[in-house]
Amino acid sequence: MAQGKVLFYDFMVKETPIKMLCETNRTILTVNGLFPGPEIRARKGDTIYVNVTNIGSYGITIHWHGVRQIRYPWSDGPEFITQCPIPSNSSFLQKIILTEEEGTLWWHAHSDWSRATIHGPLIIMPAYGKMYPYKFDQEHTIVIAEWYTRDTKAIIDEALETGGDPDLSVAYTINGQPGDTYSCSNGSAYNKTFVRGKTYLFRIINSGMNEEMFVGIAKHNLTVVGMDGSYLKPLKTNYLMITPGQTMDVLVTANQTPGRYYMLFSPFVDTNAPSNKNVARGIFQYTGNYNHSEIPVSPVLPGSTNKSDAGNFTIQLRSLNSKEHPSKVPTKITRNITIAVSVNQQPCPANQTCTGPQGTMHSASLNNISFSAPPISILQAYYNNIYGVYNRTFPDQPPTLFDFTGNVSALGEAANVTTEVLKIDYNDEVEIRFQGTNFGAAENHPMHLHGYSFYVVGMGDGNFSETEISKYNTIDPPYVNTVGLPKNGWAAIRFKADNPGVWFMHCHLERHSSWGMDAVLIVRDGKKKHQKVRPPPKDMPPCSVSS
Ligand code: C2O
Ligand code: CU
Repeated sequence: MAQGKVLFYDFMVKETPIKMLCETNRTILTVNGLFPGPEIRARKGDTIYVNVTNIGSYGITIHWHGVRQIRYPWSDGPEFITQCPIPSNSSFLQKIILTEEEGTLWWHAHSDWSRATIHGPLIIMPAYGKMYPYKFDQEHTIVIAEWYTRDTKAIIDEALETGGDPDLSVAYTINGQPGDTYSCSNGSAYNKTFVRGKTYLFRIINSGMNEEMFVGIAKHNLTVVGMDGSYLKPLKTNYLMITPGQTMDVLVTANQTPGRYYMLFSPFVDTNAPSNKNVARGIFQYTGNYNHSEIPVSPVLPGSTNKSDAGNFTIQLRSLNSKEHPSKVPTKITRNITIAVSVNQQPCPANQTCTGPQGTMHSASLNNISFSAPPISILQAYYNNIYGVYNRTFPDQPPTLFDFTGNVSALGEAANVTTEVLKIDYNDEVEIRFQGTNFGAAENHPMHLHGYSFYVVGMGDGNFSETEISKYNTIDPPYVNTVGLPKNGWAAIRFKADNPGVWFMHCHLERHSSWGMDAVLIVRDGKKKHQKVRPPPKDMPPCSVSS
């Protein structure tokens, strides 16, 4: 790997006044006063130092979503997994080690629900002297977010206390703009001007908390050329489906009659759980002579419950697999894991009133384990051999076999609330089969893994069956960090465990992750020196409980 440059950024986390919708007197947590937060821009192979200073009123952590952080989980960020929160009025110098990543990634807070407003782009251009595998004239970054009417930490703290549904967002925003379908947003829609005949690269980041989105621009084709910091074979489509956590690089050629066109983001809701059904609209307008106050043309997107259109888009994605950007799909699997992904209910504790379904508490699990975060970080416990912080018995198979996607109403819905890790040997070739289940409100789960990207070799509806293996794509499957596990379906992923460390794996729908749809992978050190976790930095935020 060619040595890249070393770059420095300063992030100041603070409460910032903001005008949004019809709210007055509102503040949100931001980085450097910006919503969305500042862009980090680097080239492949660079190393970035970000000095994160927290002057907000509670502890936070920051994660670099999609960066593998080879042998350096110390800066990865998930709260109580790789670090304790950065307390108010203190700093943490985080080191982001870029290696193979190339394209669009992002960064976000990884403690409680603060990522609702603490997030921003992390753009990785080709190394010096290297070219993009496609051509474009100009680029724009689009960050989709969800807007809540009160402090998101209060929302989730309260919901976990009562076991009920957390507040819904009230708007979707495009680069901080809800657009003209909302009141009090006159004239503040995301709005860009395009020149006929030119091609634009849109780097689209779904930072949304709880909803997958369909995306389209009226009358224009979209060509997807990258995803999650890796290139794809160009895929021409008239809509995208993008889950929270995913990023897509999309080319759009301005080849229509000069005029105004809506760019539309509308939620994909394949569940009966409550959801924000609003849309966000931006305007794509041409330069030239026409009536610039005409009403933009609207795109037609799949209906919000259209599961088959969501799936039809996703299954067409293929990695570029060129000479310069080859796919390296593991084919000698040495560790095979099946993980049942469920939304559960826990009984209400005695002497308490719970507001979840039928007076229970919402919960969620992986292999029937509802993850509970320990008071000190798992990475620190692992690295320093502190016992009693976590168990090592996360099962490689669901504890009971049943018709996962069938009628499960006769089965109990409570999961074990505990802290388990899944240990994996260095250089294992791992396959994980995620199996959706029909418990609770079944829906699409964007499963995300830290420390790795993985190849999505197969996905489908219903229960996984061994006969699917012969149909796997081991040639050019997409190489991503987040896969949308279809509702009541399955998805199979593969990766080589060549990055030792402690790595979080979770549903990127915040409410599911908060309810326990999480797991921790510990990839052991290899034997050689350059196969071991590097030592920690001196300024790791302190954990208040020590054992
Ligand atoms: Cu986008 Cu655990 O992260
Ligand atoms: Cu989920």
